[in-house]
Amino acid sequence: MEKLEMLYEGKAKRVYRTEDPKLYVVQYKDDATANNGLKRGTIEDKGIVNNKMSAILFQLLTENGVPNHFQELLSEREQLVKAVEIVPLEVIIRNVSAGSFSKRYGAVEGIVFDEPTLEFSYKKDELGDPLINDSHILGLKLAKKEELEEIKRLALKVNEVLKDFFSKKGLKLIDFKLEFGKYDGKIILADEISPDTCRLWDAVTDEKLDKDRFRRDLGNIEEAYKEVIRRLEE
Ligand code: TMP
Repeated sequence: MEKLEMLYEGKAKRVYRTEDPKLYVVQYKDDATANNGLKRGTIEDKGIVNNKMSAILFQLLTENGVPNHFQELLSEREQLVKAVEIVPLEVIIRNVSAGSFSKRYGAVEGIVFDEPTLEFSYKKDELGDPLINDSHILGLKLAKKEELEEIKRLALKVNEVLKDFFSKKGLKLIDFKLEFGKYDGKIILADEISPDTCRLWDAVTDEKLDKDRFRRDLGNIEEAYKEVIRRLEE
């Protein structure tokens, strides 16, 4: 499937139309941003890692009954996906305290939760993606009640599947962000799952193997992304 004109360019990806109105081509870039766009840079070959990792994980999720937009890998940096209408929410699941959770509540990083936490941010760059609750989502008509329930059910299912998979690869799934879309009237998982959108720590050493290396200037960023894909492909 050939890509036609670009429909959208985001911070890490470009989306192209195809001759089939129900399919898009997503192209993964090496550009990285953090802190709501204040920090910018490139992570060499990040687009290749994120394209491949998303493909592996979306296929795993399909096998485990989580409907998602992935269709097929097209090249090192491109994949064919279903053309969804994105629900403007970031769905964040946490298994261990870190990042904005630790900052907001003054909690150390590394508290292992008995149950995963779930929170939403409203995808609106100009507002800095503020936290939003269920009743506000319904008030703003960002999703219907049944859709919101389905998003939560699927997000928790994704967590179960991925936690187990990463653990077999010697990685702890600390937290991650998902985005969902509507396709033929149904909620399906969309966007990407990669070291940009997950926190992954080495199971033995707790070394950070994700975008926190870029956000916090920890060095060895490219190596961390490559190490994650190496383990997933083993
Ligand atoms: P946070 O601790 O900064 O809220 O991030 C939680 C998880 O969500 C972390 O794995 C990184 C991911 N995330 C994104 O993918 N995009 C974003 O814009 C933000 C804020 C977080």
